[in-house]
Amino acid sequence: MNSELKSFIDVHKGEIDQRLVQLFETIECPSKLKEAMLYSINAGGKRIRPLLMLAAIQSYRNINETDYDAVCAVEMVHTYSLIHDDLPAMDDDDYRRGKLTNHKVYGEAFAVLSGDALLTKAFETLSNLSNVNDLNKIKLIQEFAKDSGAEGMVGGQAADLEGEGKDLSLEELEYIHHHKTGALLNFSIVAGGILGGAPSDDIQQLRIFSQELGLVFQIKDDILDVEGNEVEMGKATGADQNKNKSTYPRLLTLEGAKEKLVYHADIAKSSLQTTSASSTLLENFVDYVMKRLN
Ligand code: IPE
Ligand code: IPE
Ligand code: MG
Ligand code: MG
Ligand code: MG
Repeated sequence: MNSELKSFIDVHKGEIDQRLVQLFETIECPSKLKEAMLYSINAGGKRIRPLLMLAAIQSYRNINETDYDAVCAVEMVHTYSLIHDDLPAMDDDDYRRGKLTNHKVYGEAFAVLSGDALLTKAFETLSNLSNVNDLNKIKLIQEFAKDSGAEGMVGGQAADLEGEGKDLSLEELEYIHHHKTGALLNFSIVAGGILGGAPSDDIQQLRIFSQELGLVFQIKDDILDVEGNEVEMGKATGADQNKNKSTYPRLLTLEGAKEKLVYHADIAKSSLQTTSASSTLLENFVDYVMKRLN
């Protein structure tokens, strides 16, 4: 990994982990629900979405203490999406982040409820931000709701399930990847731009960047499902084939999927060239996402 990005991650990942726990420790609710939420939040995870949001902020101004709350919100929705994604009614997976999946430990009902609670806590967290003016707060919440819901991640998850066992076109598969994965990456990057005070032309370029990065991220996830290492990834491989999922390797072969990965990574990087971003962090993220082993 590029050394600028490595030191950025080393500095901020621990802060994100700590702030996430603080935000949950103060919740008053039935103890099993709290335990189930904290189980998945504390299970690890690369924290790529919050780190991307911080990288986008840092491209326009210095990061400050209060930025951590906003970035934790996206990790909450992401974690909820994983808990629900692993349920028997969806991908039916037993391992996530190197541990048993939430429903394997707490049962399906509590896995559903802890996902619901993570989703709503995320919106509460954004609405409580103290360092953002009301107009920007509303912009963030609108963007977050759209990217998380039927026109975003949830819509992508629905299309993913409906695509099981079918031979989809590349266009249909792109829809799934843009939505189930790209939408939350889009929120992370655009929200970082808004919080950082990026000019509106830059926000448009950041949207193009995030669309492409979303494809890179999910194509790599599909490739890792075929040739990754289960221990390193903390989740099962071969799961897509078992579930007859539509993926890039299935549609284009492994080689074809790898070509698409490079193709979209190149567009992502070049979309940043006309921005006034003052660091190369976002560009370095593309290589990290493309080359990651977990
Ligand atoms: C996994 O996301 C689900 C996808 C959208 C492909 P990550 O690979 O970011 O998972 P964690 O958060 O590191 O566990
Ligand atoms: C999951 O995609 C996307 C979301 C959770 C929104 P996958 O089903 O491919 O993710 P993994 O492979 O289980 O992590
Ligand atoms: Mg899935
Ligand atoms: Mg899955
Ligand atoms: Mg996958």
